[in-house]
Amino acid sequence: MAAHSDAMVAIRNLRLDARTEQGPAHILRGIDLDFARGRIIGIVGESGSGKSTLVSCLLRLLPNNLDRIEGEILFEGTDLLKLPPAEMNDWRGRKIAMIFQDPMTALNPLFTVGTHLRDILRRRFPQLSRQEIRERSLAMLNKVGISDAPTRLDAYPHQLSGGMRQRIVIAMALLVEPDLLLADEPTTALDATVEAQIVELLDRLRQDFSGSIVFISHHLGLVAELCDDLCVMYGGAIVETGPVAEVLARPRHPYTRALLDCEIEDGQEGRLATIPGEVPSATWTMDACIFASRCVHAAEVCRQGPPALLPAGEGRKAACKRSFEVLP
Ligand SMILES: Nc1ncnc2c1ncn2[C@@H]1O[C@H](COP(=O)(O)OP(=O)(O)OP(=O)(O)O)[C@@H](O)[C@H]1O
Ligand SMILES: [Mg+2]
Repeated sequence: MAAHSDAMVAIRNLRLDARTEQGPAHILRGIDLDFARGRIIGIVGESGSGKSTLVSCLLRLLPNNLDRIEGEILFEGTDLLKLPPAEMNDWRGRKIAMIFQDPMTALNPLFTVGTHLRDILRRRFPQLSRQEIRERSLAMLNKVGISDAPTRLDAYPHQLSGGMRQRIVIAMALLVEPDLLLADEPTTALDATVEAQIVELLDRLRQDFSGSIVFISHHLGLVAELCDDLCVMYGGAIVETGPVAEVLARPRHPYTRALLDCEIEDGQEGRLATIPGEVPSATWTMDACIFASRCVHAAEVCRQGPPALLPAGEGRKAACKRSFEVLP
């Protein structure tokens, strides 16, 4: 993972609480994470670990029941959390783009593909002529692997397959020419064959993409294929980060180990099986290691306060007091 100085985005001690009837829910519990240019970072973790909330913070799309938010999201030195709303809106359309899990959240069923692409280009590059907009739209459709592009420009979202819709959404995100591309489970709604095609597409597109891509997935296999760096989240905290190949070859946190074991056991499907026990409630105050209640290696020391996310080898960090003892 990049050092602070060459990180494009540096998230520092990001804490987010939401108000609930049970008291404050600690959805992000002090996140420290860097994104470097030219790299794809994969974020994995079970459902409820805070992955979507984290990327939503990067767009500053905060929950309605927000109780408090603390820390910094430094984008090339500018704290996104402090930007005036109008400026933040501008950043969303220029520097940061998002691909959602369900393409229909980004597509308006009443508008054609061409209208979607045109609206984005008009907003981002107001000086373009009609002809240039059409040419750029067609070129982008070709780039994301949509054949018969001129006909597709006139199609409505419901006339396209799920895989094709997700390609359109990727095209929309790329037309923005963002520095940061956020993809929150962009393939989960697709079948395995189409999923593989989309991952292949993202892998190909990265060749001429100079920014950084954040790719959220439940599927460690996909992350291993596509990503350079890995961030493993659990219960609103980061438990481990580092170069993806090293982390998966030799995890430094028992939670990463457990996720990997599930994937191996589940074999064919490649989906995560489950780790015994339950994810702690978001209202829990972190006075111990957050994974201790489910960890096969948990000892007294693990219950005596939370571990810090500390260096654990070249470019790696892990939040486990017993890491080197139990995962030699
Ligand atoms: N506005 C909110 N108010 C209260 N709790 C919330 C709110 N938003 C999210 N949560 C809770 O915070 C936790 C993290 O949610 P989040 O959606 O970020 O997880 P996730 O890792 O993206 O999960 P998934 O894999 O299911 O998409 C969950 O327990 C969720 O129920
Ligand atoms: Mg999510």
